[in-house]
Order: sequence, then structure tokens, then C-alpha cells
Amino acid sequence: MRHSHILEAGQFDVNDVDGIFRTAREYSRAQRRDTTEVLCGSVLACVFYEPSTRTSASFIAAMNRLGGGVIPITQGVQYSSVSKGETLEDTIVTLGQYADAIVLRHPEIGSAARAAAVSPVPIINAGDGTGEHPTQALLDLYTIDSELGRTRGLEVCFVGDLANGRTVHSLLRLLSMYPDNRFHLVSPSSLGIEGRPLYDKVKKNIGEILHVGNSLREAKNILVRSDVVYMTRVQKERFCDPEEYRQVKDSCLLDLELLSMMKQEARVLHPLPRVNEVPTSIDGDPRAAYFRQVKSGLHVRMALLKHVMS
Ligand code: CP
Repeated sequence: MRHSHILEAGQFDVNDVDGIFRTAREYSRAQRRDTTEVLCGSVLACVFYEPSTRTSASFIAAMNRLGGGVIPITQGVQYSSVSKGETLEDTIVTLGQYADAIVLRHPEIGSAARAAAVSPVPIINAGDGTGEHPTQALLDLYTIDSELGRTRGLEVCFVGDLANGRTVHSLLRLLSMYPDNRFHLVSPSSLGIEGRPLYDKVKKNIGEILHVGNSLREAKNILVRSDVVYMTRVQKERFCDPEEYRQVKDSCLLDLELLSMMKQEARVLHPLPRVNEVPTSIDGDPRAAYFRQVKSGLHVRMALLKHVMS
């Protein structure tokens, strides 16, 4: 891979993705003891200015399984010198003296690029506000490839909070690199991506755009022909007005009846965490792939760390 920093999905080409997936597949088959020398002696700093379960835990687990060490600033930067007013730039330069790469989650769009501008070591964007989450997109695409056997010729329906969903933004960019993929966008009208800079980058692949009123049933005709239904939660933390959140929070809920209309070979993905948009009653259906998606995250992040750090 030519890149040191991992900042946005658009920086990858098909060869980069192939290389990462090849390594991830090797790690998914490897015995645990086979990987412990890969990054032995290397140190990864994980700095999370926003909450996380999967991204932080999987990067830490990935580093441990590759034999490296971790500086975990993941339990709230209030316990770091950020609480004393330290800037993002000074925090990054400081951690770059101890670590060989830095995983960063931050609430502002462009924060990973800001960090990369001053960092002496590679920055891995683990989510910059409502911007991008490129490593999630890689694991999402890897899951699609593992489940469906292809990354092209797909009808992918994105559902929910598309405006704030950084995982959606990054996955749209990755999927648009491959031929014959069509994206359907289903959201409340206030949570669409039309008009955003991202939209222009992927608009050649956009199929249908549907603004639902108060039920995902309005999107039934799209769901039944989709190969992948990518569900997302409405992100309460991005709303200034609680009433605005209340009006849209239940507008895109999947249920057993809708799932039963989908193709048998279709898959439901979700970056998680979920709130109520995907009920636990569908977890046992083979089409519900979101916990396998979580597992893929470990192997893809192991592969990424190897490519970035070794
Ligand atoms: N998918 C994802 O980014 O999950 P976390 O917020 O738990 O890291």
C-alpha cells in the first residue's frame, strides 16, 4: 500500500483493497500463535475523543494478536491532558514520540487530516465526526465479499441516518470503485445525503432515493430487490433539538415481516451500535450478518495494521 495515513476511503484503489483483504483472509485462517511476531515491539496509540466499543476494542485486540503493545486512551479523553486544554495537534505530536501509529476518533470533520499534518507517525482515522470512517468501510466491504462472493454488480440499499452516518459515506466511496454497483438511499428527508460534496462523488451509481415518512414499509419495493441492506441508527448525539430527533428516530425500522420479503441470499449489515432499527428477533436469520461483520473487523484491522506499521 502506498499510503501511510488512513484518512478517507477515497484514498484506496482496488489493488490496495485486494492486498488488505488477502492479508485479512490469511489472518482469519491463522492459528493465534502464528501472528504474534508480526508487530512484536511495535506500539499503537488509540485516542478516542468520542465513545466506541467495536473500533477501539478491535484495534486493541488486533494489535495484541499481532504481538504489539497499545497505549489506550479510549475510556474518555477527560482522563488525559485534553481536559487541561491541550490541543489535538499537541496530543498527536506527543503520542507520536511513544507510538508507531495512532488510531484517532474525534468529533470534528477533518480532524484526522489535521492530525496527519503534524504527526510523525501514521494516523488511522477511526471516525471524524460525520465525515468518514474508512476502516469500517473496509470491513463492511470485506463482509460483503465474504458473504456474497463479490464486490461488484450489487444493489445496495442504505437505510437510516445517511447524513450523519460516516460509515455510509466511506462505504459509498469504496463500493463506487467497483463496476455495476447501484445504491438506493432510504432515509427521512432531513437525513439524506443529497447536496453534500460526497453525493457528487457517487451520484453516477445512485439508483433510487426515497424519503420515508414514518415507516420503512414505504421502501418495500427497494428492499425486496437489494443484495445488501445497510441499516444505520439515527444518531441522537448529532441533533441539537431533541424534538427533531424524536420526529425521525423511528422512521426506518426493519422487522421480521420486511426481512421475510427480502431475497434469501440478501444480507443485512449494520455498523452497530443499534438502537431499535434492527430487532434482536432477526439476529438468528442467516441474512443477518452484522455480528459476522464485527468479527471481520478484527481480521481487517489486523491486516491494516500490518500494512501500515510493518
Ligand atoms: N461501528 C463502530 O464504529 O462502532 P463503535 O462506535 O462501537 O466503534
